[in-house]
Amino acid sequence: TDGKWTAEQKRIIDAAAKWVRAKLERESSGHDWWHIERVVRTVRTIAQAERADSFVCELAALLHDMADEKLNDDPKAAEQELEQWLANCGVSEADAVHILEIIGTMSFKGGARPPMRTTEGKVVQDADRLDAIGAVGISRVFAYSGAKGRPIHDPELPPRQNMTQEDYRGGRDTAINHFYEKLLKLKDLMNTSMGKELAAERHRFMETYLEQFYAEWDGRK
Ligand code: ADP
Ligand code: NI
Repeated sequence: TDGKWTAEQKRIIDAAAKWVRAKLERESSGHDWWHIERVVRTVRTIAQAERADSFVCELAALLHDMADEKLNDDPKAAEQELEQWLANCGVSEADAVHILEIIGTMSFKGGARPPMRTTEGKVVQDADRLDAIGAVGISRVFAYSGAKGRPIHDPELPPRQNMTQEDYRGGRDTAINHFYEKLLKLKDLMNTSMGKELAAERHRFMETYLEQFYAEWDGRK
């Protein structure tokens, strides 16, 4: 299913990159253009290993945050705009439906989700999740927490699993807590074998980071 892209496919990918970059250039919520660029690069690596349709994977990766509720006051309208864009751009009906399905089902939000149906969906979801862990993932947590005005860490907070909704509503969430809430869980949610491999290394890096963090916090190192 892989192979050289047609001139038409190249034109579509270029147009998508231009559209997405213009929209996300000034974004600072962690969904900035460079997040997209990293996901695209990782998608290329995984798609090749999985023999997935690289055009669908790359286009879905480029567009995956365009209708995100965090970036749009009106996500429904953004989704319609995305559908329109795909149609206007000459993406086939089948590819457009596939890409919209991937984008609509890949987010972690809401916890347990049905598994991605297609190989291409698995690839793109893995690449997006990989950008939330490892050295880059750590950077994004602190950037996000800082933007929300949250503390780095609070050793007096109850352990993560004992936190109640009230603790969150009271604004007691911290950057370090987000590791336990999400980042350390992602490794076991990877779909593809290449994704698992990459996640294992990034996961180890986060564990090392946390050990060092607590040692420094306690003045032990
Ligand atoms: P995505 O839409 O890419 O699945 P999110 O929108 O949930 O992910 O998060 C974007 C980035 O912000 C990720 O790197 C994530 O780890 C970080 N982030 C999300 N929620 C929090 C939080 N409560 N505290 C710290 N970082 C967060
Ligand atoms: Ni993303």
